Amino acid sequence: MASRYSEVYAAWKADPEGFWAKAAQAIDWFEKPRRIFDAERGTYGLWFPDGFTNTCYNCLDRHIAAGGGEQAAFIYDSPVTGRSEKISYEGLLSDVKALAAVYRKLGVEKGDRIVIYMPMIPEAAVAMLAAARIGAVHSVVFGGFAANELAVRVDDCKAKLVVSASCGIEPGRTVAYKPLLDQAIEAARHKPAHCLIFQRDMLAANMVPGRDIDFSEVLAAAKAAGEEAPCAPVAATDPLYVLYTSGTTGQPKGVVRDTGGHMVALKWSMENFFGVRPGEVFWAASDIGWVVGHSYIVYGPLLNGSTSILFEGKPVGTPDPGTYWRAIAEHGVTVMFTAPTALRAIRKEDPAASHVARYDLSRFRALYLAGERADPDTIRWAEQALGVPVIDHWWQTETGWPVAGNAVGLGLLPVKYGSPAVPLPGYDVQILDDAGHPVTPGTLGNVVIKLPLPPGCLPTLWNADGRFHAAYLEEFPGYYKTADAGYIDEDGYVFIMARTDDIINVAGHRLSTGAMEEVCASHPDVAECAVIGIADPLKGQVPAGFLVINSNVSREPAEIEKEVVGLVRERIGPVAAFRTAICVKRLPKTRSGKILRATIQKIADRQPWKMPATIDDPAILDEIAEVLHAKGIGV
Ligand code: COA
Ligand code: AMP
Repeated sequence: MASRYSEVYAAWKADPEGFWAKAAQAIDWFEKPRRIFDAERGTYGLWFPDGFTNTCYNCLDRHIAAGGGEQAAFIYDSPVTGRSEKISYEGLLSDVKALAAVYRKLGVEKGDRIVIYMPMIPEAAVAMLAAARIGAVHSVVFGGFAANELAVRVDDCKAKLVVSASCGIEPGRTVAYKPLLDQAIEAARHKPAHCLIFQRDMLAANMVPGRDIDFSEVLAAAKAAGEEAPCAPVAATDPLYVLYTSGTTGQPKGVVRDTGGHMVALKWSMENFFGVRPGEVFWAASDIGWVVGHSYIVYGPLLNGSTSILFEGKPVGTPDPGTYWRAIAEHGVTVMFTAPTALRAIRKEDPAASHVARYDLSRFRALYLAGERADPDTIRWAEQALGVPVIDHWWQTETGWPVAGNAVGLGLLPVKYGSPAVPLPGYDVQILDDAGHPVTPGTLGNVVIKLPLPPGCLPTLWNADGRFHAAYLEEFPGYYKTADAGYIDEDGYVFIMARTDDIINVAGHRLSTGAMEEVCASHPDVAECAVIGIADPLKGQVPAGFLVINSNVSREPAEIEKEVVGLVRERIGPVAAFRTAICVKRLPKTRSGKILRATIQKIADRQPWKMPATIDDPAILDEIAEVLHAKGIGV
């Protein structure tokens, strides 16, 4: 099929409001928006400012009203527990209505925050949708974060309620969530009134009397009593959720997602970008703790009336590197989304892709990749193994849906390896130099998006308009700063090359090296430190910390290194994958005292590097190279 991309992009550019007004017709509204965009309100304007709607209604009730109640909303596929279960739209709604009633009984009002700290189980999605039903704002925290990170989020959003589970299952170990939750609440200044705890069979959590409530018991009681909460009409501009993501300091940024624009954009993207029709099976192999999980495990597929896979497992080891292909065949997945690192993990264990041949992938149409740069080698391997288009696309927690990509729904454009293809309608992507001037095609610069951002993108940060402005809008007036560096070629293809801040991508997980430095520096023996991301063949990048020890300390460096590794795991969580801490005599700095992190990184990554003209003492770089050499890094 010839691609309609150019025509559709041009139609958006000619009349952005008309374009989104039409897209908004695919959503049910309690009050239809008469205005599409109000440039005078919010930080850069607000979408659908006078519309009223409800996300849960659009995800569930309306499909059931249209006769789709028996269709599977979710297929819960859990190789780590050996369970596989279909949950119909009707069944899901019945749980959601009852849990929403439980929330109301616990005093949760429209606008109140509910923190959800759950593994990949259906109850996590029920908890999200029930919040949406009553107009409460959820904030999901990824299970791989430590108690301290959870505490920071509970404090920042002042959660009235926490929904959690007794445990998560990681290959080879059961992660007890409840002790982490208890520690977090102990540490938080703001104390949630109640915790709803889902007790899983493999581990029972101890309950705190008066505060903790058994999720299953209270849900069953609400159902038995016929208690249900109706959908609350909420303004399109009201927040649906807050999702915290790494910023440049230890204080994460609370990305706000509004209600109306989010639905309009996700619904548009399901059909037009991913090319998935209602009734078809879509699978985003991510976690509900990440934006991908919010947009494309829960909300996007349900808004579209599709079936979504909720997968509790890993690409390898649960039980083998064929588990993705097994699930695609078994559930009739048409389009899948995962991170390149997952494919690298599969390829490492099954380079010949021999597991693919065991399954019937005839209904599978496309594999989408995002979360980190998709290296051409991995894409080619997957294309060959699977015989379907393997499509890189680029976006961020902040945008909530793809900024650039090759749209199956509009007809594919020619593929350029290494590029997530072209900007989608809604996004005017440009490249500016550091002074804010446009650069010529092919020139590397700051990737920015001309304001306003389209529906679905963050309107602000939670309770932090000033921080939002400073972080995203200030440096390039009139544009949103993505903090990615890249270029656009002569054909309009975008290439995303690196971050311009201290964010690194570890196995598709976004982490701040600045936050890790804060933890390393808190060790009593550490005088100063630098954390950088070094290239890793599996995870893309992994963090490495360089520590300068206080001169009066005579302990073994290895001991301190081990303690610092433990500290990062304890404070940030295992997801940081921080396993390398190296004691060094000194850190290379500029004459003005700035640590030369980029140069250390180049040495570690075996990339060509130039001696920075402003370096204070060039000998220090040799010392660093020697230490890395001794550890087998960068040699
Ligand atoms: N709860 C608790 N701990 C978790 C967790 C969770 N939800 N998710 C990860 N962890 C832990 C892991 O158990 C591991 O702990 P360990 O240090 O004790 O081994 C640590 O965090 C790092 O996890 P991970 O980054 O997943 O590395 P891994 O070595 O276990 O697995 C991959 C490597 C490539 C298989 C895995 O990273 C993967 O599946 N990546 C795909 C990522 C993805 O889909 N991202 C979504 C963005 S689109
Ligand atoms: P997150 O907010 O976790 O989704 O991370 C967003 C960041 O991941 C982006 O700003 C990029 O740096 C990186 N990223 C995501 N997708 C891609 C991609 N397809 N190519 C290159 N980088 C990507």
